[in-house]
Amino acid sequence: MTEAPAAALARLYDLDLGEDPGDLDLLLALATRTGGPVLELAVGTGRLAIPLAAAGYDVTGVDLDPAMLDRARLTAGGAGKGVARRMRLVEDDARTVRLPDAGSYRLAAIPLNSIFLMGSRADQAAAVATLAAHLAPEGIAVVDAWLPDADDLSRYDGRLVLEWVRTDPETGRTVTKVGSAAYDPTTASVRLTTIFEEGMPGEPARRWVRTDRLRLVTPDELVAFAEAAGLEVESLAGDYELGPLEPGAERVVLVARRP
Ligand SMILES: C[S@@+](CC[C@H](N)C(=O)[O-])C[C@H]1O[C@@H](n2cnc3c(N)ncnc32)[C@H](O)[C@@H]1O
Repeated sequence: MTEAPAAALARLYDLDLGEDPGDLDLLLALATRTGGPVLELAVGTGRLAIPLAAAGYDVTGVDLDPAMLDRARLTAGGAGKGVARRMRLVEDDARTVRLPDAGSYRLAAIPLNSIFLMGSRADQAAAVATLAAHLAPEGIAVVDAWLPDADDLSRYDGRLVLEWVRTDPETGRTVTKVGSAAYDPTTASVRLTTIFEEGMPGEPARRWVRTDRLRLVTPDELVAFAEAAGLEVESLAGDYELGPLEPGAERVVLVARRP
């Protein structure tokens, strides 16, 4: 059967991410402190939600993309006893969704730059408000985002860059990723085009293209979103170990509490 483009892009998302960025340990540590249930907005293929469910927490994951959710379901099904049962995957928009059990979550997160995908500053604020609306009193919200420096942004001039060549363990095919990023300072956004080409020697190659618009955020904006949503900032950190946010930090990690 021919693979649909959205399913191929979901598979290639996992191949692209590869290594653990380090955020799972933070979420597991916070879940140990708060208990579940856990809400993940923009859950994708379940990279974080599945190990959280495997650790015993009830996890709800929300995502707009049904192909990402299908892949999360499939992986959860193969992840061992009880994992799929502890997971609920909901196709909905992180900016507007209000689940029937809103107000009961002990931990809620928008991990790994997904806040960039929410569109505009107002949409990012709306997604943080969704976290707040789902938390129980004393529940914890987490949002983290990459902080590109001037050098990073100066390279985002639309040029094509060969990012990697890998073998997909699921298909045995060689995959090449080429990307192009263009930064627009007037909207603090980056237009990202990603091209995956895959195939076997001697076969016709298949090409998958996705475009995303990333609206960057500053640490101050994350604090403003949290406060506007009625959350109290517990820490504004520079890494997943919750070390201080110092000048030149590559990442901001917001941890905020519902009073
Ligand atoms: C970079 S992936 C992150 C997946 C996962 N959280 C992780 O850390 O591996 C971003 C996900 O955000 C989803 N997404 C983008 N905009 C969204 C929105 N408005 N509401 C819900 N999901 C959204 C995409 O479909 C995609 O699956």
